[in-house]
Amino acid sequence: MNMGRAVLRPVDATNWLEVIQLQVAEDQRHFVASNLFSLAQAKIFDRYVPLAIYEAAVPQALVGFATYGPHLPSELPWIDRLMSDARFQRRGVGRAAMLALMERIQHERPGPMRISYEPDNQAAEALYASLGFMPTGEVLEGEIVREWRPPTP
Ligand SMILES: CC(C)(COP(=O)(O)OP(=O)(O)OC[C@H]1O[C@@H](n2cnc3c(N)ncnc32)[C@H](O)[C@@H]1OP(=O)(O)O)[C@@H](O)C(=O)NCCC(=O)NCCS
Repeated sequence: MNMGRAVLRPVDATNWLEVIQLQVAEDQRHFVASNLFSLAQAKIFDRYVPLAIYEAAVPQALVGFATYGPHLPSELPWIDRLMSDARFQRRGVGRAAMLALMERIQHERPGPMRISYEPDNQAAEALYASLGFMPTGEVLEGEIVREWRPPTP
């Protein structure tokens, strides 16, 4: 069943252990850093905003994790990490989380935003393409870069 809307909440004393326990499938581990690594990175570098992804209809249901923030030197907002726990994949978590992240970023800093992924990450590519992220032609640290732009009025 599709999960519907996603709610993004801070990672705090109430959920950080649960966030660290979220896992992607074994064959997806090379696509994304562990949540433990990403939380450590966010603790050190202010620019990463870590967020826990919950299912809106089931407020206690933690289903994924993401980080976003301004990317230096351009300061363009980037979605740096996105993962759905393996138990909840293909139920609309990734799409719902992306929509919630995009809305949040648009609210904070209207304009383009970027994301990147490993060239063989077909799930990520299909998801980002379907949300309107277009290839920029750039490759950053081996990852394909895509950019979303708000529709022109
Ligand atoms: C990418 C990821 C976040 C998608 O999460 P999800 O909760 O399964 O996503 P959804 O159920 O919302 O699916 C959204 C779209 O992603 C694509 N997709 C998801 N899983 C897929 C798979 N196994 N194969 C092909 N496409 C896939 C599809 O286009 C899907 O749309 P559809 O269901 O209409 O066909 C998830 O696969 C994941 O956590 N992967 C490991 C970490 C990762 O690669 N993160 C991205 C790093 S840039």
